[in-house]
Amino acid sequence: MSFLSRFYSSSLGRKFFVAGAGLSLCGFLVLHLSGNLLIFKGPGVFNHFAQTLDSNPFILPAELILAGLFLFHIVIALIVRYHNYQARPIGYVKYSAKGGRTWGSRTMTATAFIVLAFLIIHLKDFRFGDRSQGVYHLVVSCLKNPYYAVFYIIAMLSLSLHLSHGFQSAFQTFGLNHPKYTPAIKKLGYLFAAVIGLGFSSIPFWIMLGKIR
Ligand code: HEM
Repeated sequence: MSFLSRFYSSSLGRKFFVAGAGLSLCGFLVLHLSGNLLIFKGPGVFNHFAQTLDSNPFILPAELILAGLFLFHIVIALIVRYHNYQARPIGYVKYSAKGGRTWGSRTMTATAFIVLAFLIIHLKDFRFGDRSQGVYHLVVSCLKNPYYAVFYIIAMLSLSLHLSHGFQSAFQTFGLNHPKYTPAIKKLGYLFAAVIGLGFSSIPFWIMLGKIR
């Protein structure tokens, strides 16, 4: 048995994989948000940015790696959840209010499914949608629809809730659990979740208000 397969077959090993892929996806979110915020600079800047990205020969391999990371994160996280569920003592049904459980930790699976549903719709419409009039036009015409915009905002807030637990939990998995650093990591996690959630939500919100057209 190779080191990797032995590592994967342990519960801690699987959590390491989920945490590693999750933190890499956080890196993607920072890059994606930074690029998306260029929409506030108008169609010229935003379309130019999208065209520059699309003409980069490394974009396809990067997208394939990204798709692999998303899949890997979701599948291994579900396997971890399944093993935890099986290991639960029989009769343990109710959540305890004690033990530092937060809204973020309690709703991890639910928020994951909301973000997954969002991602499927998002890729269908934006990545594989009709870009003949430019990516700016595509984004604005979709998000002008208030139902679509509200769905985006709900998905972004779910992502934020997911990150509010996932970010700090990844650091704990990597063993960074220390009375001196843990409170700072938790605060950083909340800050990260808030910046990502509010940053992405600002786009559908502004388009819905007609401030970006
Ligand atoms: C208001 C929020 C968002 C907007 C306006 C937006 C916009 C876009 C656009 C225009 C594209 C196509 C880029 C291109 O191919 O040139 C794209 C792709 C993508 N988006 Fe988003 N996005 C948003 C939020 C998110 C979030 C929260 C995630 C992840 C949870 C995400 C994940 C992706 C992925 C994986 C791709 C395909 C990879 C890529 O082409 O970069 N997006 N998005």
